[in-house]
Amino acid sequence: MASLRFRICFFVFCITQCHGNICLPKNHTALFIFGDSLFDAGNNNYINTTTDNEANYSPYGETFFKYPSGRFSDGHMVPDFIAEYAKLPLIQPYLHPGYHQYIDGVNFASAGAGALVQTHQGWVIDLETQLRYFKKVEKILKHRLGDAEAKTLLSKAVYLFSIGTNDYIELYKKGERKFGFLNLAPVGCLSGMRLLAKGGTGACLEEASAIAKLHNSALPKVLKKLENRLKGFKYSVANFYDSLTEMMVFPSKYGFKERKAACCGSGPYRGYSSCGGKRGLREYELCGNVTEHVFFDSHPTERASQYIAQLMWSGNPHVMGPYNLKELFAM
Ligand SMILES: *[C@@H]1O[C@H](CO)[C@@H](O)[C@H](O)[C@H]1NC(C)=O
Ligand SMILES: *[C@@H]1O[C@H](CO)[C@@H](O)[C@H](O)[C@H]1NC(C)=O
Ligand SMILES: *[C@@H]1O[C@H](CO)[C@@H](O)[C@H](O)[C@H]1NC(C)=O
Repeated sequence: MASLRFRICFFVFCITQCHGNICLPKNHTALFIFGDSLFDAGNNNYINTTTDNEANYSPYGETFFKYPSGRFSDGHMVPDFIAEYAKLPLIQPYLHPGYHQYIDGVNFASAGAGALVQTHQGWVIDLETQLRYFKKVEKILKHRLGDAEAKTLLSKAVYLFSIGTNDYIELYKKGERKFGFLNLAPVGCLSGMRLLAKGGTGACLEEASAIAKLHNSALPKVLKKLENRLKGFKYSVANFYDSLTEMMVFPSKYGFKERKAACCGSGPYRGYSSCGGKRGLREYELCGNVTEHVFFDSHPTERASQYIAQLMWSGNPHVMGPYNLKELFAM
């Protein structure tokens, strides 16, 4: 049984609740992250995978970390900015051998993971396994904090997803939960798709985006139904599709000069995903100024991610609704 007592903390002006030697700030909201390469902060560095699903080599990470952290970006990704806005530290990958704290949350995302176990089976941490890892963390937190406090932490926490719409139900079972989703990107506009456009026009492949659109129009309806059925279920969906499209249609409004071509890759629009020269193709080009680009490879640059994170944090219901993340964190 964890001992519970109140203690004034000296470093920040707050009252903390302590359990043994772990002190939680009052009103603490943790962040648990699930998903694919848009959210993977380095879990795939620790599994047996293919270079397609890895970003732990140069020039990934060059803008901020100065080393390849495993993120598919030149620097930070969306969840990193969200953690910052929520005044949390960077949320560490679950498989990081030096990280077992979990009080602020943890990141389970794995590049290449899909909602289905079959997606890149054997080479990624599929969503089912991510949820199994979450169960382990849940047990550890209960052990450390006691059942009641762990339950409070877990029900107050925000759960961020960049894939899947089915499996999070498992997470909901044990009480109130707050979920944030990223809808699907306009996939037909990624540089790898643009290079397939007929006549070399570099136009978006509308057929590819249509599937994402279909998914995106179904997602809020499913979530709305769940909200009606499940007590305490709160959610918000980020309109990643429209936010990225907006940046591609009005790049200069956001300070971008290049909306089509990736910063790192090869071929037309640097659309071949050879960034780093380890995915079969040795040659790759790197742009001169990454902050001018919307895309780093097939993933947004740090700068584009920051815009998206800002919209998710404090955007209006058109881009982030029914709540924005600032509101979800405060609930
Ligand atoms: C990783 O996968 C390769 C290819 O299947 C296999 O040869 C190797 O033994 C695996 N390594 C580990 C540590 O599982
Ligand atoms: C990169 O581009 C941005 C935006 O156009 C500009 O403000 C910045 O000075 C550029 N940096 C370099 C090193 O050229
Ligand atoms: C709890 O935190 C939220 C932001 O995370 C803040 O808006 C709210 O005022 C805080 N409540 C208390 C009682 O400190």
